Amino acid sequence: MAAAKRRRKTEGEVTFAVINDLHAQFVPKPSPHGYPGGSERADWMLRQFQPRGRHVDVDFVVGAGDLINGEDLKSIRAEMKAFRKAVKRLPMPYYPCCGNHEFLQREGSAEYERPYAKAFGKDRFDYSFAAGPVRIIVLNNGGTFHVTAKRREQRAKRFEKMLRAHPGVPKIVVCHVPLVSMRDRDVLYGSFGFISYRCLEGELLDLLDTAGADVRLVVSGHLHLTGMLRRRGVCHLVTAGTASFPHDYALLRVNDQRIQVDVTGLPKSLHEPKSNIHGPPRYAEGYTDAEHPHALAYLRGNAAERKFVVNL
Ligand SMILES: [Fe+2]
Ligand SMILES: [Fe+2]
Repeated sequence: MAAAKRRRKTEGEVTFAVINDLHAQFVPKPSPHGYPGGSERADWMLRQFQPRGRHVDVDFVVGAGDLINGEDLKSIRAEMKAFRKAVKRLPMPYYPCCGNHEFLQREGSAEYERPYAKAFGKDRFDYSFAAGPVRIIVLNNGGTFHVTAKRREQRAKRFEKMLRAHPGVPKIVVCHVPLVSMRDRDVLYGSFGFISYRCLEGELLDLLDTAGADVRLVVSGHLHLTGMLRRRGVCHLVTAGTASFPHDYALLRVNDQRIQVDVTGLPKSLHEPKSNIHGPPRYAEGYTDAEHPHALAYLRGNAAERKFVVNL
């Protein structure tokens, strides 16, 4: 594929891609219960960061969780190993974020956390790093609801510490499970079908209010739909990821004034409507809510949810 026309970077600008919910099964014998065409789309996505790809010019890539399909410990081990190998070939740094499929909600289990730790490092569950004018905080909340009280407390403490560090530096938080309900609450609980339709640890949202004055944007995945909302001066973005229709990822361009966010869909030739988890074939009909009166808008978000600016 020919490379897309390059946009010239301005001085000091940092650009990066957020990819999520690839549910990749880069193994010789993938489970038949994976997403139809999921690994092909995951492979396409990673190729976009290679020479002649659409996004070879990004400074780094963030993986916002559920990069592998992970149905059991055996498949987690095999898929994680294969995914790590694919990521190693990227010409730019890759920053992982743990999703629930990386350890099947067994947060705190050394056995289930080991494949992710082995692939990326024990220090890659909760961490932060500088990205030009902003600091990116990665928080592991993939085990929300299933987490022990001890672990939950530890998570909140780590989050608070990262929020309070580097005061005055604008921050972007990346966590797999969104901190807020990205659609009408009852509708979303119904269409997603799991209690983790949002992070169930309300104290993390409280911390955004009390210690998160520097946070401008929270980026998540998990829902397999795309949406953005603004709450108390913070933008919350969730992208569908590549496994499920409508197959989206995000590009972020950051300078010292603002963050430009563009959510982009995969080429139509790769679309698989059967991979939609908020409509047919999983349900007889698609879902809608007050802000999204059509099923496609419920999945893709309205235009203002897909392309927007966050002022720093
Ligand atoms: Fe997922
Ligand atoms: Fe998930």
